[in-house]
Amino acid sequence: MPDIPDIINPFYEVRILSVTKEVQGVSTYILARPDGIPLTYRAGQFITFTAQHRHKEERRTYSISSCPALNEPFSITVKRVENGYYSRMLIDNAQPGDLLLSTGCAGLFTLPDENDYEQVFLLAAGIGITPVFSLLKEILHTKPATHVTLIYSNRSKEETVFYNALQDLLIQFPERFQIAFLYSSAFDIARARLSKALLPVLLQEYGKANKDKMLFYVCGPFTYMRMVLLTLEELGINSAQVKKENFNTEIRNAVHVVPPDTTTRTVTIKTQQHQYNFPVVYPDSILQAAKKQQVMLPYSCETGRCGSCVAICSGGRVWHSYNEVLTDADIAAGRILTCTGHPVYGDVTLDL
Ligand SMILES: Cc1cc2nc3c(=O)[nH]c(=O)nc-3n(C[C@H](O)[C@H](O)[C@H](O)COP(=O)(O)OP(=O)(O)OC[C@H]3O[C@@H](n4cnc5c(N)ncnc54)[C@H](O)[C@@H]3O)c2cc1C
Ligand code: FES
Repeated sequence: MPDIPDIINPFYEVRILSVTKEVQGVSTYILARPDGIPLTYRAGQFITFTAQHRHKEERRTYSISSCPALNEPFSITVKRVENGYYSRMLIDNAQPGDLLLSTGCAGLFTLPDENDYEQVFLLAAGIGITPVFSLLKEILHTKPATHVTLIYSNRSKEETVFYNALQDLLIQFPERFQIAFLYSSAFDIARARLSKALLPVLLQEYGKANKDKMLFYVCGPFTYMRMVLLTLEELGINSAQVKKENFNTEIRNAVHVVPPDTTTRTVTIKTQQHQYNFPVVYPDSILQAAKKQQVMLPYSCETGRCGSCVAICSGGRVWHSYNEVLTDADIAAGRILTCTGHPVYGDVTLDL
């Protein structure tokens, strides 16, 4: 175990129970805690792992592909990334019995509590299917009045993760579930790649509800997500109806932005058992300042793109240098990101 303080976010071990190859370079890992404590999560969430690599703590996040409502064994599905440190370790070397160190499950790519929607469109490309597969099973099995359409892009049928399981769901739920498989290798180029032109056609073809009764979930590579999000915006879909999960959290076109107030402020973090106070001195974010004080908050990407570090602001104001995960509704509900959040205009209290 790494020698890292675990004040707020205790680390725990998870054991790999089985490894199943899905397609070339992609495997599903069934995991469980050796201490028998169940891994609790919501459909669409992810689990974060921590490891020491070249004397530095690295964190990696993987969406959970199993479905909690079905009580399925907890699983993640991982794609090997060329030259990737953690994914290669899993795909090339991990075996049943191996232990991984986790910081827990989190994420906002989940179903809304209120079921105001009549149709859910799930848009996934490649390994972006993992959280979408969990959401799909959850909706089909627990929301009997909701139609679901999966628009799923891959290079070919052979590279399509969960192809057979999706076919089984089509047979099981013929009235409420439809899939548009798109293959970039397809002969008919008009139906090969999802594009600005094809997306409205598919929404028209598969649409069962009024536009304002649709909910969208999008997960795939950066350029795919950018195209889908822009197209939905142009089609007049409200941003509150669109949820996105971004797997690639590298900083792109970093723009240096300065908070409107850079005065040193005190941040108080409250958990059920403890309270911590520490100064946040610009340019540190709340997370960076907490790390310096050995207060280990949850985090993964540290770039405002994954949602691992969400906290509730119960006093004061937090300004974000970057935020790709919180919606206006999240912010109105007091959610903030500690990794890119800075206290402004006064001290701040956060609940975890
Ligand atoms: C919220 C969230 C959920 C995720 N869920 C999944 C999942 O379900 N399944 C899954 O396989 N992965 C998932 N990822 C991606 C995963 O966390 C890692 O980023 C990925 O496995 C690469 O890690 P690595 O250590 O192997 O590569 P690294 O050592 O971090 O990177 C090696 C090289 O690969 C490039 N690279 C890094 N990440 C990616 C990426 N995601 N895509 C393309 N190139 C990349 C880097 O530029 C670098 O050159 C998720 C990420 C996030 C933030
Ligand atoms: S750690 Fe990923 S958004 Fe903050």
